[in-house]
Amino acid sequence: MAIARVSMPPKQAAGAASQASAAGAADHYLYAGQVSIAYAGRGGETMLAIDHVDFVLERGEFVCLLGPSGCGKTTFLNAVAGFLPISSGQLNFEGQPVSRPGPDRAMVFQQPGLLPWRDVLHNVTYGLEMSGRMRRREAAAHASALLELVGLADFARSYPHQLSGGMQQRVNLARALAVEPELLLLDEPFASVDAQTREALQVELLGICKRAEVTALFVTHDISEAVFLADRVCIFSRRPGRIVREVRVNLPKPRDDVRLKPDFLAYVQEVAGVLASAAKAPSNS
Ligand SMILES: Nc1ncnc2c1ncn2[C@@H]1O[C@H](COP(=O)(O)OP(=O)(O)OP(=O)(O)O)[C@@H](O)[C@H]1O
Ligand SMILES: [Mg+2]
Repeated sequence: MAIARVSMPPKQAAGAASQASAAGAADHYLYAGQVSIAYAGRGGETMLAIDHVDFVLERGEFVCLLGPSGCGKTTFLNAVAGFLPISSGQLNFEGQPVSRPGPDRAMVFQQPGLLPWRDVLHNVTYGLEMSGRMRRREAAAHASALLELVGLADFARSYPHQLSGGMQQRVNLARALAVEPELLLLDEPFASVDAQTREALQVELLGICKRAEVTALFVTHDISEAVFLADRVCIFSRRPGRIVREVRVNLPKPRDDVRLKPDFLAYVQEVAGVLASAAKAPSNS
């Protein structure tokens, strides 16, 4: 993958952005100031994926990113994970520029990508074995506790092909949590599971994040999923993506039985309206 170095003039910050610049990079858990990322095309041209993104995330928050397909959500998440360098701007995690991946950040991808030759327990211990952070027995005990947390204690000795899609996604989550990240980055993790399982996983995820004290940045296309999970929903414009609006979701947690309540539905409607205009408007408007 080729990433182009581009130099761009600063743009006027919007929404959360202005807060970010006002408070300063060092004061935030995660700080993105005027972050742009461009890919190099085959013919040498550059393709701007995200454009002067301003964003902050505070420790303990659960923030969802929504936006039209191709607007750069995965690109932004990859940059936060340290998989992808930014082209310009400033991206800091705990006060330091993000320059590489680290055990403090774990990514949960849409496809579980479990190792088919390892049983569930040893899929979860894999990252710990690779990092050499724990002895085998300690890693197994740690993984067992996580399987309990995600409701899969009885499936530790099963293999991935013996699990449903939703169960595989829980293993995926347990695997990400195994390295005890502070920040969980989730890229449409529940997109391929059925609606009922998805709702159950959302409830579990909120509980897990609270118990494990992790901060979460969650990408989704599903508006009600975003409203259910998030403390804040940040909405990207179409590509090149910029965060055009932020909606703070003031619904008390836990939210297990909130989905049919008028307040919840009002938030869904509000976010849907913003998303519809973000998808239409040119990103530099
Ligand atoms: N490795 C790459 N090389 C070149 N261009 C890329 C690469 N990855 C993504 N892009 C382009 O960058 C833009 C943003 O892609 P990205 O995957 O970040 O969007 P997204 O918001 O996650 O979309 P979706 O909602 O469909 O997952 C797209 O136009 C895409 O074609
Ligand atoms: Mg994506």
